[in-house]
Amino acid sequence: MRLTGKLLFSASILASTAICSPSSVRERAVIIDDVELLNKNYDYLIIGGGASGLTVADRLTEDKRTTVLVIEYGYLDDQEPGILVPGISPPAKYFRNYESVPQPGLNNRTSPVNSGAVVGGGSTINGMFFDRPGALDFNSWEEIERDVHSCVGRDCSAVSYFRRSFCARIGWPGAFKLPSLPISYHEYFAAFVPTETLHWLVAPTKAQIENFYRGWNSIGITTDRDPNDGTAVGAFYGPSTLDFKNQSRSYARLAHYDRVIERRPNYHLITGQRATKISFDKKKRATGVTFISRDEEISHSIRAKKEVILAAGAVHSPQILQLSGVGPKKLLSSLDIDVVVDLPGVGFNFQDQPAMFMSFKFNDYSLASPEWLDTNATWAAEQLDIYYKNRTGPYTITRYSGNVLCYLPFQNISSNYETIINSAAAVDVATLLPPGIDRTIIAGYQAQRDILLDLYASPHIAIQETAFSGSDTLPIALLKPLSRGSILINSTDPLAPPVFDYGTFAYEADLDIAVEALKINRAFMASAPMQELGAVETFPGADFATDEEIKNAIRDFATGTWSHPVGSLSMMKRQHGGVVDPLLRVYGVKGLRVVDASIMPMIPAAHTVATVYAVAEKAADLIKFAR
Ligand SMILES: Cc1cc2nc3c(=O)[nH]c(=O)nc-3n(C[C@H](O)[C@H](O)[C@H](O)COP(=O)(O)OP(=O)(O)OC[C@H]3O[C@@H](n4cnc5c(N)ncnc54)[C@H](O)[C@@H]3O)c2cc1C
Ligand SMILES: *[C@@H]1O[C@H](CO)[C@@H](O)[C@H](O)[C@H]1NC(C)=O
Ligand SMILES: *[C@@H]1O[C@H](CO)[C@@H](O)[C@H](O)[C@H]1NC(C)=O
Ligand SMILES: *[C@@H]1O[C@H](CO)[C@@H](O)[C@H](O)[C@H]1NC(C)=O
Ligand SMILES: *[C@@H]1O[C@H](CO)[C@@H](O)[C@H](O)[C@H]1NC(C)=O
Ligand SMILES: *[C@@H]1O[C@H](CO)[C@@H](O)[C@H](O)[C@H]1NC(C)=O
Ligand SMILES: *[C@@H]1O[C@H](CO)[C@@H](O)[C@H](O)[C@H]1NC(C)=O
Repeated sequence: MRLTGKLLFSASILASTAICSPSSVRERAVIIDDVELLNKNYDYLIIGGGASGLTVADRLTEDKRTTVLVIEYGYLDDQEPGILVPGISPPAKYFRNYESVPQPGLNNRTSPVNSGAVVGGGSTINGMFFDRPGALDFNSWEEIERDVHSCVGRDCSAVSYFRRSFCARIGWPGAFKLPSLPISYHEYFAAFVPTETLHWLVAPTKAQIENFYRGWNSIGITTDRDPNDGTAVGAFYGPSTLDFKNQSRSYARLAHYDRVIERRPNYHLITGQRATKISFDKKKRATGVTFISRDEEISHSIRAKKEVILAAGAVHSPQILQLSGVGPKKLLSSLDIDVVVDLPGVGFNFQDQPAMFMSFKFNDYSLASPEWLDTNATWAAEQLDIYYKNRTGPYTITRYSGNVLCYLPFQNISSNYETIINSAAAVDVATLLPPGIDRTIIAGYQAQRDILLDLYASPHIAIQETAFSGSDTLPIALLKPLSRGSILINSTDPLAPPVFDYGTFAYEADLDIAVEALKINRAFMASAPMQELGAVETFPGADFATDEEIKNAIRDFATGTWSHPVGSLSMMKRQHGGVVDPLLRVYGVKGLRVVDASIMPMIPAAHTVATVYAVAEKAADLIKFAR
């Protein structure tokens, strides 16, 4: 058997010929096309070398006796400026782009379904925001478990580990370190991805950012000086995943592969391979993974001695389970797939944060702003020079993302909030799901909806985000939507994409909240501090004035995604349509866990990568201590 894909080996395999420094490792991460160089089997096979997959691989291979193979669809990036320099957009070749099905809530427009297809996954190409959700988000993950009577003892407390992992860091009451574990829980969050609070952009834009804080303050919104203390609400500064020494991107590949690879002969990574199927023995134990080389379309199988770990990300992991016979029986049978376990929740409960992009111009502001990077080549060249020489300026920030945020609880968005909550509570969630859907999924949705509406009434958790970079674009996202979507295969061809459905605004209250969110942002822009800059709305524009007009406009211009897909293989009770238990084990089979963003039962009020790293750190401990 010959392996025709690209195989990257750890330096120690090459150590007989060279002593490797980190840079020579990269040069020597040679591409080998001989399958003999792959072991016949590994203790752990990890599908997907993204943010979560590489974190788990790093931790498991700390024990030199443990062998791990990461099977990754993308290739290594070239560490070119587009990846390392925050202000330069990542090359298109590192993205895998699909479209959703037409969304009725968006007047039948589709929305993009994009992900990173490169070693490091999303962390290699993302907007680099690194923010932690508040305590209430993690309490809600625990609550969705606890309200089922059969959840007792170990499983329940395992969920609370998640909560404690964050609380230890943020000093929340009751936080403690468990003595039996080698790393303290707060380190799950630190994740060895350095982050740094930056000096903001260039001096002129700094002035604009000060107006942002003053603008929100002037309409009654506080500044949050410590958004990581367990409640991230108000206007605050959002840090980025930056190497603090030189202000370049810090990502999973650097933190969890390059950093360790020269000392880990037990850590193998194979790139350019699409995992298509997990195989099971008669006792339903996961025994191996089949993958197809992207270049040659040749299929190979490798065996797992201990576990298969699914980490292909929330948009791609459900397809792999479904193709392997783990999923809703009705769907699998209709495609003639042998059912290993009937698990109705696989692919349901899919969530992302709908986003709206308003536009403004600032008539009384003539100094440099982020647009100049595109419109003024002289300035852009000067700034790039400053970046390389001084590591300051606009190139230290991702293009147009900015670093200031305003996170608002519902009551700070609208005085109408109780009316909207009450009408949302009257909705029968079963009517929002496909007819004939398994009743466990309805039960889970019901439970989530009740928890979410409680959170909507709280002043301690945000449900909308405004991001500001000083540019003309003002992105607004709904952080904790009620709507749910799905990711379901409609073909047994592993190369065919599944059907992606965000379900955007399927729950009408999400649209009502979007209207209120747009209006509070208008009020912010109309405030005296923003008017000092001469802010004028250019999109959607003053023509859209009544709630009804705004609602129609939003259906025409919002998108279903803020690039934070989660939830498609949720950690919930099986009676709630859950797919993994609190130890991240897939129900009904053995030797298979999911460790990526799919497991989040409800999307946290945050950007997702910080949580993904933390969950993966925790997952690695769960796997180690399972032995
Ligand atoms: C454009 C964009 C911008 C974003 N901006 C931010 C931000 O600013 N801040 C933030 O916190 N989060 C952001 N995110 C989200 C964040 O990057 C993700 O939440 C995070 O990367 C998810 O980690 P993961 O391990 O679940 O999946 P991923 O990081 O996506 O990793 C999954 C890996 O699996 C691989 N894979 C997929 N299918 C297969 C297969 N069949 N076989 C083998 N390998 C496979 C993929 O190539 C990928 O490398 C952004 C995401 C995107 C796409
Ligand atoms: C969206 O498509 C559905 C099904 O094709 C159709 O019934 C509906 O009228 C369409 N909605 C709009 C706004 O075009
Ligand atoms: C939200 O409004 C309440 C009541 O007016 C206020 O006490 C609180 O500080 C506001 N929250 C923020 C983040 O500004
Ligand atoms: C910044 O430093 C890291 C190592 O700490 C290195 O990998 C990277 O190439 C540097 N970035 C730039 C833009 O020089
Ligand atoms: C472009 O940038 C240069 C260099 O900073 C500056 O002198 C010039 O005024 C800018 N041009 C415009 C049209 O803003
Ligand atoms: C270089 O960085 C220092 C602080 O690190 C800053 O004060 C200075 O303004 C920067 N120089 C330029 C040209 O941006
Ligand atoms: C699967 O669904 C997609 C999106 O709706 C569609 O384009 C495709 O033709 C479907 N494939 C099959 C085999 O039905």
